[in-house]
Amino acid sequence: DTINSILEKSHFYSQNIHNQEKLPTNLNNKIIANLFFENSTRTRYSFEVAAKRLGAGVLNFNEENSSLTKGESLYDTLKTFESLGVDIAIIRHSDDRFINGLRDQFKFSVINAGAGKFEHPSQSLLDLFTIKEEFSTFDNLIVTICGDIKSSRVAKSNVTALGKLGVKVLLTGPEDLLPKSEEIPSHCRIVTLDEAVEISDVVMLLRIQHERHETFELSTTDYNEQYGLNDKRVKMLKKDAIIMHPGPVNRDVEIKSHLVEHSQSRIFKQMENGVYSRMAILDWIYS
Ligand code: CP
Repeated sequence: DTINSILEKSHFYSQNIHNQEKLPTNLNNKIIANLFFENSTRTRYSFEVAAKRLGAGVLNFNEENSSLTKGESLYDTLKTFESLGVDIAIIRHSDDRFINGLRDQFKFSVINAGAGKFEHPSQSLLDLFTIKEEFSTFDNLIVTICGDIKSSRVAKSNVTALGKLGVKVLLTGPEDLLPKSEEIPSHCRIVTLDEAVEISDVVMLLRIQHERHETFELSTTDYNEQYGLNDKRVKMLKKDAIIMHPGPVNRDVEIKSHLVEHSQSRIFKQMENGVYSRMAILDWIYS
């Protein structure tokens, strides 16, 4: 129910902005802090745009210029933002469990903007919104997630959310980067990418997260030939299938560069939808 109400709100904000209607200023007088302890472009700035569109003031924390460099603890940093009167803290951290540990410790609401290799719920909500806008329903859809699934918080959040919506998920990629068979939920199946592209409605590609691997042996060309989207595989797609990628994209690795803006690609549409979905998430906190 929560997912569906956020998707409906995302649609409302998408329509509102496209029709240049006056936006509700539900977050007037609220202060939002973007507290990113790991790099980001899309999530951080789309939350900022979303918050500003809803009338909030936004603080953008920069770890390198902060008093963390003088030895201040993370707890005291967060306590400082609480003391300043921040209403919502949007937090990204490389530790899988850091955000869960914050529950009930501070007066502000916390939004998870990416937790280690564990969860990226706002990305999943914008992905679901992109799929719903395309197909109007989740019934009978097949979604393939391809690539570095083991390291991917996007994959984990999407596998969970798609399962709740009754969607079948195909997982594919290098064997070393796939979850162990006992970790795979019943609505998911491991297949080859060639099998997947022929029957999927959505092909979601993931970045190889080199920063989370000690070694990864395949060259760019070999990776694309074996596990990436290229001219051969794009011709195998169903006519109304869509290509997705949460970004940032390693062009010519998981997808050939010239296919990033292919007519079936929704990669930049996902980024646009990130604003509508994050407006819906901010709004949901006060609903
Ligand atoms: N998709 C995503 O989380 O991108 P950023 O790391 O740029 O926020």
